[in-house]
Amino acid sequence: MSIHRPKPAKPLRKRRPSNPFPGIAALERQGGLTIDARLSANEALPLYSESLAQRYGQGLLEQARLYPDPTAYELRRAIASEHGLTGDQVLLDAGADALIHLFLRAFADPGSVVVLTAGTYPTVDYFARSLGLRACLVGYTLYPAPTADLAALAETARRRQARVVYLANPDNPTGSVHSGAALQAFARELPESTLLILDEAYEAFAPAAGNWLMPNVVRLRSFSKALGLAGLRVGYAMAAPDVLEIAQAARLHYAVGTLAQAIATQAWEDHAHRQLLVAATGALRSRFFEMATAVGLRHYPSATNFVTLPLANEQAGERLRQRLLDRGASIYLGQLNGHLPIARVTLQPELFTAPLSEILFDPEEARNGE
Ligand SMILES: Cc1ncc(COP(=O)(O)O)c(C=O)c1O
Repeated sequence: MSIHRPKPAKPLRKRRPSNPFPGIAALERQGGLTIDARLSANEALPLYSESLAQRYGQGLLEQARLYPDPTAYELRRAIASEHGLTGDQVLLDAGADALIHLFLRAFADPGSVVVLTAGTYPTVDYFARSLGLRACLVGYTLYPAPTADLAALAETARRRQARVVYLANPDNPTGSVHSGAALQAFARELPESTLLILDEAYEAFAPAAGNWLMPNVVRLRSFSKALGLAGLRVGYAMAAPDVLEIAQAARLHYAVGTLAQAIATQAWEDHAHRQLLVAATGALRSRFFEMATAVGLRHYPSATNFVTLPLANEQAGERLRQRLLDRGASIYLGQLNGHLPIARVTLQPELFTAPLSEILFDPEEARNGE
């Protein structure tokens, strides 16, 4: 049997640089101490702006004054324990975006190939290009609804000797999803030195994909969607410790701030709120489907907090976008496979109120501009 071992980027292959500032929290944990006099970190005096203290409180300002724990120990432990993992199988960063950027940096050298689906989460193509990587795009299968083509992605990764394959599951912008079993079979089909970045930002809205790790897969999660904290910038990766250790050496160690860690830890423990957000989003999704069916508006199935509509042509999309914009609403327009226009609508209660609902569920426009 082949041994999968994703190949690190050149500077991270042998002697990896280590972080010169492991942080005061680590010092306290290692020595079982409390450090009251922080004389090593060059932080400011505890003198707070009155206007800020009035608005946000002194406790918050004290947290903002201090450098964060670069390892996000408490948050990492809480996340790992819920997934039945150890702390070294979890890595925190400033959102799933930061993690995508990190794993591209850590596992692909400039000039090497990254394989992804044509039209999937556009940030990835943007990051890949800005890092000097060669993005190789594979089309979605289109029937019965657009879905990432796992067989073609694996075949392309082998043919092009890709260093990284990116797959969003559930996918943005199609809303489609593959099962955990299909994903594991896919990972086994990849070349031995390829890393699969499996972006599960929307996983909470989809059927459970299971708790599994493989040596060539990093699974990314976000606090921005089902945890409702997009402005906080927190996301985490789950992978084998040796994969995370390599990424760790390329990570901006203070990217997740003290406040972000504290708020994210509390939100993580609030299971009832998480369930509420997912259930409320599910209710909006069902309502959207019912109203769309009633007027004959074509849409793709969705395992996410948005619904995507196929459009007859770009002009239909532009018209819809402009009509909504005139009423103070934004939607996202994109293209699948480089030429199939779509409109993606985030599930928010406002879309069911007039005049937005009249525009979106307009029986005249319901054939999506055809
Ligand atoms: C597929 C996918 N991945 C990642 C992100 C970004 O997540 P975060 O806010 O955690 O960076 C998004 C946001 O829309 C997304 O759609």
